[in-house]
Amino acid sequence: KQLPFKEKNIILIGFMGVGKTTIGIHIAKKLNRDFIDVDQEIEKQYDMPVTQIFKTMGEQKFRQMEKEFIVDLCCNSRLKIISLGGGAFLQEEIRNVCLSTSIVFFLDLSFNLWKDRLHLLMDNRPVLQNKTLEEIEQLYYSRQGIYALNHSKVNTDYLKPEEVADNILHSLK
Ligand code: S3P
Repeated sequence: KQLPFKEKNIILIGFMGVGKTTIGIHIAKKLNRDFIDVDQEIEKQYDMPVTQIFKTMGEQKFRQMEKEFIVDLCCNSRLKIISLGGGAFLQEEIRNVCLSTSIVFFLDLSFNLWKDRLHLLMDNRPVLQNKTLEEIEQLYYSRQGIYALNHSKVNTDYLKPEEVADNILHSLK
């Protein structure tokens, strides 16, 4: 049975570094709800940064953990503000559970603006490491289609995180 709109979780998706966590924290504060960052929860659970999980257990194992965590979270919570890792929506099971239990927003940022943040992300984003800018750009565009499928797209270009949060809240009214 579908939950009424106002009782659902709000889930933020989008490419690494677009501001899912920061914007999620703003939304949670404004709605007085709990905020959950999936990557941070996985890091706590395994007592290891994501980069280390990728290194020691491999990406496939991380994707498995990510799926289990998100499926469990979506099925057992409501009224939460949740930010997903940028790769989570590549998994169909994650897309399905999110879309059936929650309201999903895709945070979009133009590649040209995103590029300026790349240096801040390199150290702890294993999927960006050892790639040329061209390869990263390809990855960015190959993900856009998946993010944009079936969810509300929210533009973040030139906006402060709080302004994006306000726009999302406004669209819910
Ligand atoms: C990933 C994004 C990261 C993290 C992991 C893989 C991806 O999350 O889950 O490094 O494949 O896009 P953020 O989007 O929060 O950086």
